[in-house]
Amino acid sequence: MHWTPFILIWLSLLPVEAVKSFLFKKCSESGFCSRNRHFATEVEKLGTEYDSRYSIDLESLKVDPSAGNLHATLLKMLNDGSFVSLDMNISVLEDDNLRLQIDEADRKPVVDHVASRRFNETAKWALAGQPRLQSFRHSVDSEKITLEFHAYRVEIELHPFKITFLRDEKAQLVLNDRNFLNIEHYRTKEQENADNSIHVSPEESTFDAYTDSFKDSRDDKLPLGPESVALDVSFLGAKAVYGIPEHADSFALKDTTDTDPYRLYNVDIFEYETQSKYPMYGSIPFMIGLGETGSAGVFWLNSADTNIDIKKSASQIQTHWISESGILDIVLFAKKTPTQVVQSYSKLTGHSALPNIFSLGYHQCRWNYNDEEDVLDITAKFDESLIPFDAIWLDIEYTDDKKYFTWKKELFPDPERMMGKLGETGRTLIVIIDPHLKVGYDVSDAVVDKKLGIRKNDGSELYHGHSWPGESVWIDGMNPAAQPFWDSLFANGSRLLGSATNAHLWNDMNEPSIFNGPETTAPRDLIHYGDWEHRSVHNVWGLTFHEMTYNALIKRNPDQRPFILTRSFYAGSQRTAAMWTGDNMAKWEYMRESIPMVLTMNAVGFPFAGADIAGFFGNPDKEMQVRWYQTGIWYPFFRAHAHIDSRRREPWVAGEPYTGMMREAIKLRYRLLPLFYTQFYKHSVSGTPVVSSLAFDSPENANVYTIDDQFFVGPLLVKPVTSPDTHSVRLYLPDDKPYYDFVSFEKISGEGFHEVEAPLEKVPVFLRGGSILPSKERYRRSSRLMKNDPYTLYIAADEGRATGELYIDDGETFAYQRGEQVFARFELDGGKLTSTVESTYETGVRIERIVILGGPQATAATVEQDGQKWTAEVVDQGTHVVVRNPKPLVAKNWTISLY
Ligand SMILES: *[C@@H]1O[C@H](CO)[C@@H](O)[C@H](O)[C@H]1NC(C)=O
Ligand SMILES: *[C@@H]1O[C@H](CO)[C@@H](O)[C@H](O)[C@H]1NC(C)=O
Ligand SMILES: *[C@@H]1O[C@H](CO)[C@@H](O)[C@H](O)[C@H]1NC(C)=O
Ligand SMILES: *[C@@H]1O[C@H](CO)[C@@H](O)[C@H](O)[C@H]1NC(C)=O
Repeated sequence: MHWTPFILIWLSLLPVEAVKSFLFKKCSESGFCSRNRHFATEVEKLGTEYDSRYSIDLESLKVDPSAGNLHATLLKMLNDGSFVSLDMNISVLEDDNLRLQIDEADRKPVVDHVASRRFNETAKWALAGQPRLQSFRHSVDSEKITLEFHAYRVEIELHPFKITFLRDEKAQLVLNDRNFLNIEHYRTKEQENADNSIHVSPEESTFDAYTDSFKDSRDDKLPLGPESVALDVSFLGAKAVYGIPEHADSFALKDTTDTDPYRLYNVDIFEYETQSKYPMYGSIPFMIGLGETGSAGVFWLNSADTNIDIKKSASQIQTHWISESGILDIVLFAKKTPTQVVQSYSKLTGHSALPNIFSLGYHQCRWNYNDEEDVLDITAKFDESLIPFDAIWLDIEYTDDKKYFTWKKELFPDPERMMGKLGETGRTLIVIIDPHLKVGYDVSDAVVDKKLGIRKNDGSELYHGHSWPGESVWIDGMNPAAQPFWDSLFANGSRLLGSATNAHLWNDMNEPSIFNGPETTAPRDLIHYGDWEHRSVHNVWGLTFHEMTYNALIKRNPDQRPFILTRSFYAGSQRTAAMWTGDNMAKWEYMRESIPMVLTMNAVGFPFAGADIAGFFGNPDKEMQVRWYQTGIWYPFFRAHAHIDSRRREPWVAGEPYTGMMREAIKLRYRLLPLFYTQFYKHSVSGTPVVSSLAFDSPENANVYTIDDQFFVGPLLVKPVTSPDTHSVRLYLPDDKPYYDFVSFEKISGEGFHEVEAPLEKVPVFLRGGSILPSKERYRRSSRLMKNDPYTLYIAADEGRATGELYIDDGETFAYQRGEQVFARFELDGGKLTSTVESTYETGVRIERIVILGGPQATAATVEQDGQKWTAEVVDQGTHVVVRNPKPLVAKNWTISLY
């Protein structure tokens, strides 16, 4: 969900193109963005004649090489020759990453109720912990400071201030290469008016510096005046840049010279457009550059409204980062491959927790399943249709008058009974809880009494705005006192979930979405805990809300992995939540767009991502619905959802042959749950993507840099069909390995494009030669009921060899953190297949079938385990060989010899 009803009325009166520009600021309508673009243009015009205003004061330099830190004063020269002092830290983080932080040294308090400092807590929320620093060697001369560590060198030029980050003697990233560094230092309108010449240099502009002229934000008096931070970053040698979600755009980011910049500002952007740089529900200010000699990353730790310009040329990609307020805090990465960059970023911001295995199954949602009978009827229909599913969702209508933590008793007389019935087939209930709390009932009364909400700009009382329930207050996730209150609302036995153990959460509208607010969100001058202005915390605020829910669920049941879906997110959200791409439409272009969007989330360390199947708004035709299921089974988060005005469209509604095709697609997802779970496990320990773009898979092959309609899930190469009336697709193979059609087992090979069949019943998916894929093939009603099912291994040999992995644990508790897990490494070498297992988890599960493609022409097999030996039947099926029921225990070492 959801768009805002008020706005929909305006929308119907306007031509489509005008809608977004009417509601959302363009750079030219945004004071700080416009000022910094102007500044960049002026500096660029002057070229070499421009005398940079920023330089390091060498006298102030303090270097602590063993601690990994350097501190200096950066001087900003004003028009009259006087200086503003800026506090600068440069530190080397573990993993050879470089961090630069700049703050104003002595900023004066200005306004009552508002923190006078620049907001410096974005990192506290985004990072997984205090980053560790790493020592370096250094030298200083009259022109520059040089730091060295491992294969890296950092050259810090004093004037003009500039930082070059080199790996193996090659410059990878340059900061302030174009002199776009701009820290709008503290000043008042009165000062500015009194002596224009002192504070505003010729290249600066004062557009909207003290008041916001944008239609809906006119109440924003910008009490602290202009305070933006901006910096240019050049990715030397890069051919493509990726990341900075959330945008409905291509995977490889586009040049913005003739368009608006990419904007990061968490907003409820209903009916968003595709191929667009507009902001969306979440923000991750992390960008990855890729060229044939290496990969670099830039993490811009700022949670204010942020705009990013991109300029591409043959030798480099230049970027310009512009944020409305806060400190300047940036981390640089320079590695060989993009996977190493995201792994290092993930170490810094945290990995996605290993999901509860049910949450990797199929989720059935709509706005709304009406009552208990509806919920149980839908569940029964899945079973009648022989379609597995794991979770059914309740959108806002389950509540009494949109008062969260209440139930509409006429419709849901006994929620615990309902959850109990769902639990009988291993199913889960997921309910929505939003941060807006309707004024005038016990929950919001307590928030008001305890002062736990977001405050008005005079700091006196809680802000009131409009959302689903009408007039509401917003609980503030930044306030530590909100946590125990939130905990009490989810405590075992409390009103919402009773004592149920199969209930999980959906946190929506946490941008926050405010129907009567500017750009459908909170006025920027509202005040949060710590006296911070909303302006500075905006993009990270949604994270504070869903983290609070995560913490509450952990307290409710300390040994169950919580599942939370969030719409708003920031860097670090991956630690505690899954995300989806918001309110898409039942149109082919949105299905197509979902792939680069999910790939981007995987590229920035947030793999648990998906898009609403088969489009939130509108009614998909049957062909589109089938194709969307065939696409959606590959999203790490696999959920169908629909708007209240759309027709019912559960998989059986379409009828045959469509229902059968959707059933097969969903069953393929369930067969592959061991693969998805293993992929998530690997991410959770090392930050690798669950679904990988070709660029991340084959970074040495520049032909794949812009391919974003196909991808890998482990060893499976997938190219979903996302256009109507399509019977074949052009699949790109990134290397010369053999690839086997996962259905027909036919082999194709040769780097380049291949035309492959894709009739409506088929999603093109190929197993890469050299790999071993675990699966579970039996139909069960839910993932929980598959727990004791045996495994099948698919082996695709490449010159007689293949390797693969399988991770297993109990799927739902934290016992794995106490070591109760199985990690098996499979290896085929000629006629010998071995499994080497690290295991402390008791499971009697066995391997029931091995399918070998392109392997040895065997006719018999001997299995060895625990000093015992037995034989297994081998059947040659022409395209493949099957080892029937070899029966080794999966949690122990084994060997199979093929003859
Ligand atoms: C720089 O580091 C010093 C010492 O750790 C700290 O007091 C100061 O706040 C830091 N400044 C910035 C801008 O991060
Ligand atoms: C923010 O800055 C203040 C003042 O320099 C400092 O006391 C505080 O520790 C900083 N907070 C963080 C999270 O760095
Ligand atoms: C709540 O407590 C009851 C009684 O101890 C227990 O059976 C149930 O599993 C608990 N529920 C959760 C969610 O932990
Ligand atoms: C499997 O063999 C390896 C040595 O090759 C050993 O370290 C491991 O403990 C064995 N696993 C089990 C479950 O016995």
